[in-house]
Amino acid sequence: MERTVVIYKSKYGATQKYAQWIGEELCCPVFSIDDFSKARLADYDNIIYGGGVQAGGIKEFDRFKKWIKPLVGQPEKKIVVFAVGLNLDNADGRMQLRDINFDKGVFRQLTCYYMGGAFDPARIKGIDKALIGMVRKMLTDKGLNMNEDERVLLGRIEGGCDLVSREQIEPIIREFKN
Ligand SMILES: Cc1cc2nc3c(=O)[nH]c(=O)nc-3n(C[C@H](O)[C@H](O)[C@H](O)COP(=O)(O)O)c2cc1C
Repeated sequence: MERTVVIYKSKYGATQKYAQWIGEELCCPVFSIDDFSKARLADYDNIIYGGGVQAGGIKEFDRFKKWIKPLVGQPEKKIVVFAVGLNLDNADGRMQLRDINFDKGVFRQLTCYYMGGAFDPARIKGIDKALIGMVRKMLTDKGLNMNEDERVLLGRIEGGCDLVSREQIEPIIREFKN
């Protein structure tokens, strides 16, 4: 029998929500990566990892990649990733995400699904606030040279947004139910 697990890292809650929905649909356990360990991967045939995106990087993905390196490409293991962000519904954003996170070696072959995240300007503090401030400045400095995708991103940063919806898990569910 196939055994499936969902592992995730979420700071603001969107990735956790997707992970729990996937767990419900596939009737499988769901763990934060902080409550899991490399040794326990041996218990599962299907491994789904989800992380929120910050400054282009999928959260805790480097840790997860170290864990799965010996497993990628093994015929009995199916490993799939989902990334959750505000800038993944356009080709440039997805390409940048792939370049940063799936750059080298065996990881290039991993499938990644893209899901909309959430952002509330009132909730961010510290380094996150500084980072978002830098992105906002980079975009506003472009003025009229901003393209449509950048304009959308700026609107999401300035006004906040919630792009999370359950139907976005459907492609992953189809892949694992087939
Ligand atoms: C400091 C910071 C940097 C972010 N950088 C990106 C980014 O590079 N690309 C993107 O698509 N979304 C980015 N986001 C949006 C988050 O990915 C989004 O809020 C997502 O919901 C985070 O996942 P979580 O809610 O599970 O923590 C950023 C958010 C913050 C606060």
